[in-house]
Amino acid sequence: MQLNPWETIDIKDYDELFEKFGLERIKLIPELKKNVLFRRGIVFAHRDLDKFMAALAKKEKTSILTGLMPSGPMHLGHKMVVDQCVFWQDLGVKTRVLVADIEARLTRGLSREDAQRIAVDEYLVNWIALGLDPKKSDIYAQSNRSIPYYDLAATFSGRITLAEMNAIYGDLSPGKITSSLIQSSDIIHGQLPEYDGPHHVLVPVGVDQDPHMRMTRGLAEKEGFIKPSSTYHRFMTGLDGGKMSSSRPASFIALNDPPEVAVKKAGAVLTGGRNTVEEQRKLGGQPDKCVVFELETYHFMPDDKELADLRRKCEKGEIMCGECKQILKERMRKFFVDLGKKREKARKTVEKLSIFR
Ligand code: TRP
Ligand code: SF4
Repeated sequence: MQLNPWETIDIKDYDELFEKFGLERIKLIPELKKNVLFRRGIVFAHRDLDKFMAALAKKEKTSILTGLMPSGPMHLGHKMVVDQCVFWQDLGVKTRVLVADIEARLTRGLSREDAQRIAVDEYLVNWIALGLDPKKSDIYAQSNRSIPYYDLAATFSGRITLAEMNAIYGDLSPGKITSSLIQSSDIIHGQLPEYDGPHHVLVPVGVDQDPHMRMTRGLAEKEGFIKPSSTYHRFMTGLDGGKMSSSRPASFIALNDPPEVAVKKAGAVLTGGRNTVEEQRKLGGQPDKCVVFELETYHFMPDDKELADLRRKCEKGEIMCGECKQILKERMRKFFVDLGKKREKARKTVEKLSIFR
């Protein structure tokens, strides 16, 4: 198995990743228990998160950084990173969010204009609607940063060989090489004297991005920076049973879907229900194989007691899938209506940010 940041990968066995790539398991210290993503194992692995938490506890300088790739619709599988950023932001950690528009051009063939339009309409308005506070954040585009930032990417290119990069990423193209080195600079440049100087940086991402973390941590060490930490979340199951992915429209619920569309899609997902009502009363449903339950777990049922209650009722055959879906659909309808309203406000905010040159 190899993790590939540019292809849709469907991970069958998350446990394999610990051994194979040296990811670490999350220790649920009290500070992390406060967050639903950590508590529920949605964020399931990390590198050096303990070091970041120690720095945070000592009130040392810290920041988080993550990026969005403006190549298609933003969907529910992208929301966990935003939720995590909002958690850190509320703890007072400085947040950096970048638009990976260079990467979208080089690896997805988008025009500059399309990448920027998608970044605003699909991502930034939703990020802000979901709670990212631009006043507490540094939001930038890869195509519109500073000379020290590009210079750092150039420095990194001289500190690694093609063979070393192939060992991490597999097959590469010049565009992928450039994107990766710029991503390393995304992650490290906050430590430059022109920015905030040396400090602990945490990068919340999907586990497909781990190759970038491996390369960046190596480069950081060679250049005398503090090695960045990372957390990894699980992928969501798509509506068609594979990974939820913006390259397969049949798989995702987009954040920009009108409420009735989102709700309709949720009504059609695979459940862990049995073939007949009698069977389900007798055997119970299977919440761990159920996309309805997954949607509740990841996004729509933040109350742990409520979720535990749903699991119990499902497993005992006390609730049928029809009724269960109705509960989800009602929650989703509210969420999507509310998000739409917040997005309108967010649009005005984004327009004032002047992220692109
Ligand atoms: N490669 C990331 C993606 O495909 C986007 C990205 C660019 C990023 N730079 C980053 C993510 C730095 C985290 C940190 O989604
Ligand atoms: Fe899924 Fe709900 Fe059916 Fe259980 S009752 S299998 S949680 S839809």
